[in-house]
Amino acid sequence: MIAMFFKLLILTLASLAAAEDVNFTYNGFRSDNLSLDGSAQFTSNGLLMVTNDTEEQKGHAFYPNPVTFKNSYSNSNVFSFSTIFVFAVRSVSTTLGGHGMAFVIAPKRGFPGAYGGPFLGLFNRTNNGNPTNHVFAVELDTVRSASFNDIDNNHVGIDINGLNSTGFASAAYYAKKNGGLRN
Ligand SMILES: *[C@@H]1O[C@H](CO)[C@@H](O)[C@H](O)[C@H]1NC(C)=O
Ligand SMILES: *[C@@H]1O[C@H](CO)[C@@H](O)[C@H](O)[C@H]1NC(C)=O
Ligand SMILES: *[C@@H]1O[C@H](CO)[C@@H](O)[C@H](O)[C@H]1NC(C)=O
Ligand SMILES: *[C@@H]1O[C@H](CO)[C@@H](O)[C@H](O)[C@H]1NC(C)=O
Ligand SMILES: *[C@@H]1O[C@H](CO)[C@@H](O)[C@H](O)[C@H]1NC(C)=O
Repeated sequence: MIAMFFKLLILTLASLAAAEDVNFTYNGFRSDNLSLDGSAQFTSNGLLMVTNDTEEQKGHAFYPNPVTFKNSYSNSNVFSFSTIFVFAVRSVSTTLGGHGMAFVIAPKRGFPGAYGGPFLGLFNRTNNGNPTNHVFAVELDTVRSASFNDIDNNHVGIDINGLNSTGFASAAYYAKKNGGLRN
């Protein structure tokens, strides 16, 4: 079960951002808040559930309107952003999790030819790593896939056009007391 609390802040060019309403917070989801496909569904209590207990499922939830990340008058300006989620990954088996999930920015809604499992519903064998994908994702990966050079079975990765992450780190958190990063 996956619950998300989603906040996106566009920090530059406030006038353009204001015209686009890209500063939003969801405290739970309803049918017209996100565009769903595949196995994704809203639960009756307002959670977004991306997959269920059946194997090899994939599902997506898209913000319904396009968000501008580049100033169309200048190729050099890419807007920065900030986002916060609250989520849970619930596994049927205690020893093997589902393959994971990703926060994704894509040129259009949906990934029609994408595979589930280690491909996280984003790519397939043919287009993995293809620069024409124009896809940016942050993967929360709960299975180690040697074919994508995964470091372990519980990591965060930066994916640019493919699942071979360009940056990665084992899942960890900062403790309030005594500071420091903890596994
Ligand atoms: C986004 O909205 C919140 C709540 O309305 C506000 O406090 C914040 O300043 C806004 N941020 C930007 C970048 O507009
Ligand atoms: C989500 O949908 C509900 C019902 O239409 C609406 O009241 C709410 O404002 C929407 N939330 C956002 C963040 O758009
Ligand atoms: C999961 O969802 C699929 C449809 O996306 C459905 O066919 C399947 O029966 C569901 N599995 C469970 C365990 O609910
Ligand atoms: C991979 O995905 C692309 C893009 O959706 C699609 O054109 C292609 O047919 C898919 N390839 C396979 C082998 O499924
Ligand atoms: C991903 O990594 C695997 C394993 O090292 C390699 O065989 C494959 O070519 C890589 N794919 C891309 C698109 O970089």
